[in-house]
Amino acid sequence: MTIQVKPSGSALGAEIIDADLTQPLDDTTFAQIRDAFYQHEVVYFRGQALSDEDQIRFSARFGELRKLKLASQPFVEHPEIFVVSNIKKDGKHIGSYDAGSLWHTDGAYLANPHAISALRALEVPVQNGRTLGDTNFASTSAAYDALPQSMKKRLEGLQAVQSVTHHFSKIPGKGANKDIYSTVKAAPEVIHPLVRVHPVNGRKCLYVTEGYTSRIVGLPEDESRDLIEELTAQCVKPEFTYLHNWRQHDLVMWDDCSTQHKATFDYPASMPRLMHRTTVSGGAKLQ
Ligand code: SIN
Repeated sequence: MTIQVKPSGSALGAEIIDADLTQPLDDTTFAQIRDAFYQHEVVYFRGQALSDEDQIRFSARFGELRKLKLASQPFVEHPEIFVVSNIKKDGKHIGSYDAGSLWHTDGAYLANPHAISALRALEVPVQNGRTLGDTNFASTSAAYDALPQSMKKRLEGLQAVQSVTHHFSKIPGKGANKDIYSTVKAAPEVIHPLVRVHPVNGRKCLYVTEGYTSRIVGLPEDESRDLIEELTAQCVKPEFTYLHNWRQHDLVMWDDCSTQHKATFDYPASMPRLMHRTTVSGGAKLQ
C-alpha cells in the first residue's frame, strides 16, 4: 500500500490518503503514517467505515491504549472506546456530551497525560449540506517556536498546575466525565513543565490550556494569570490552528503533547453527533 500525505496548508494537520484502516497495516505503511503523524501533529483519514475493533487495532500500533469507557456508556463493548456524543438513550447521555467545550489537551490533569487521541465520526450533524460540530486544533510547537527569544528564556524551568477542579469551575454543570474524573479525585491537581519537550520528535511545545492550567508555580497570582492568558492566546492564534470539518467515517488523530483542541457546539440537541475515541497512554510520569 502506498499512502499519500496531503498537508492542510495550516501549521498542523494533514490528510492521509489511500490507507485502508479496515485491514491490518504492513510495517512500511504504518511507519509512513507514524512519520506523517509526528510531523503534522494532527492527521485525518476520510471514508474509513471502521468497526471499533479496526479503530482499536490501528490506534494500538502507536502504543498501549487506555481503558476509559465510562460506566454511563453501556452501549459499547470495548473498554478502550470512550464515547463522545450528545445522544441520549432512556433519558441518559450515552457518552461525554460536553467534551471539548474549552481549549484543552486530553489527560493534562494526569501525572502521566495521554499521548495520542483518535476520534472516529460515526454520526455527524448536517445542515444545508454542511456538517456542523467542527473541531479546532492548535499547534503548541508552532506557537512556542514563534515566541520571542526573551519569552522563551522567561519560560525556562517554569512549571504549571493542571487542575480538574479548575476545569470544572469553568464549565457549569460538567457531568458526563465524572467517572473519569473520580479516578483523579485524590490528586485533582498535577504539576507539569510549562514547556514540554516532545518525547518522539524533540520539539518544544507550550503545555498551557484554557481548560486545565490554573496557575504557574512560584509566580504571584496576577503575574501567573496574565502569563497563562498570554500563552493560551498565543497557542490559538489563527496561524497556528487547523479547523477540521467532519464527515461521517473520518478518523482524526492528534498529538496530546504538541496540540490542543476545542469542539464547536453549533448544532442543536436534536441533531445527533456520535464519536468513538481511542486514547494512547503517555506511559511514564512526566517528571
Ligand atoms: C474532545 O475534546 O476530546 C472532543 C472533540 C470533539 O468532539 O470535537
